[in-house]
Amino acid sequence: MDSILVTGNGPLNGDIHIAGAKNACLTLMPATLLSEEPLTLTNAPRLSDIRTMTLLLQSLGCEVSSLQDGKVIAMSSHALTSQRAEYDIVRKMRASILVLGPLLARYGHAEVSLPGGCAIGARPVDLHLKVMEAMGAEMDLRDGYVHAKAPGGLKGGTFEFPFVSVGATENALMAASLAKGTTVLKNAAREPEIVDLVHCLRRMGAQIEGEGTPTITIQGVDRLGGATHGVVTDRIELGTYMLAPAICGGEVTCLGGRIDLLAAFCEKLDAAGISVTENERGLTVARKNGRVKAVDVVTEPFPGFPTDLQAQMMALMCTAEGTSVLEEKIFENRFMHAPELTRMGARIDVHGGHATVHGVERLKGAPVMATDLRASVSLILAGLAAEGETIVNRVYHLDRGYENVEQKLSALGAKIERIQGQ
Ligand code: EPZ
Repeated sequence: MDSILVTGNGPLNGDIHIAGAKNACLTLMPATLLSEEPLTLTNAPRLSDIRTMTLLLQSLGCEVSSLQDGKVIAMSSHALTSQRAEYDIVRKMRASILVLGPLLARYGHAEVSLPGGCAIGARPVDLHLKVMEAMGAEMDLRDGYVHAKAPGGLKGGTFEFPFVSVGATENALMAASLAKGTTVLKNAAREPEIVDLVHCLRRMGAQIEGEGTPTITIQGVDRLGGATHGVVTDRIELGTYMLAPAICGGEVTCLGGRIDLLAAFCEKLDAAGISVTENERGLTVARKNGRVKAVDVVTEPFPGFPTDLQAQMMALMCTAEGTSVLEEKIFENRFMHAPELTRMGARIDVHGGHATVHGVERLKGAPVMATDLRASVSLILAGLAAEGETIVNRVYHLDRGYENVEQKLSALGAKIERIQGQ
């Protein structure tokens, strides 16, 4: 397993390219299953999760070609050979559940392995199943698989989510696009990745209104066509790299960044004493003066503070002036970066869903362990500003969601390199 060696090396300056959104691409790719015609995605990120989704779609008989060094994904589902998503692929990536809605809508049946949990929580899929039932499907759980049937096709229905679920909203949107009649989703997710999926489905001929609001209405159509769609900018990669100059000092422009993707996060950076300016090239971020101020954070569904930036924000708060409280309200176990940051000299008390961070002057480099995707990049951010060397182990987590981290940060002046595992 590879490791990343980071050495604190002072302020960072320059431009950084922000890729297409992993969490948009992982729902846009299964959308190809809804149509016999080709779906082509541009501005796709080059990540291991995208390669896993490619393997899953190919296992169903979908043709998937990666062009232009992976930035373009050309797909065609005109001759699917299977509607069964096998456990050995699904267990690697929870987003595999997103083939359920499209397969059920187009073929009237699907067998999808239950994804199982991951480090940050149990990650059940009960809402995915309930919303399909609201559209007339029969869902049967046995031998670790969801056996879904809708022999007469899905029917439009109304479903109110008891709490916001990004994935269940995405599955429902894709399924409802081909259902007979009208579907109304209430308390739907409002993330930019949901809006991006609707834009793509609309290009394919879907009739959808209300994306980005809590109520989305879908008028089912008989068939969907092909499309070419550009993947929206990755707001989580954007927020992650905005924190690099915040933690180290200096001034960095995140190319293509937009404040509307991350308004709640930008408000917190401003309160912490970080300047964020939107210009024609993207978002320019600099530490205004002196030490960062401690701020409190509560993670919420969009437009609130994103849970996927909580670990990275904690790294910033470790060297802030004062005490900050971070409350994680989306996942039940998303503070595993805290004990690793403590190894670097951070002072963090975790009680249930709350982490209290008492800022210290400076962290000290140490060997640390990445436990999940966002925790791994939080440790790298901490290492950038720490005194001495930090070795982040198990960086396969990192490669799921960030392309070329070492190259991107080295170009800003960071001392960072990958150490090939044994
Ligand atoms: C998506 O996961 C993202 N993944 C996650 O990003 C992100 O953290 C999450 O949304 C929240 O924004 C992708 O888009 C591929 P949810 P998802 O359904 O759809 C519970 C990353 O780092 N829940 O909104 O799985 C669930 O356990 C990843 O890129 C149920 O109980 O998230 C969680 O506590 C991590 N039953 C909460 O709801 C369900 O049927 C929100 O989950 C579904 C979800």
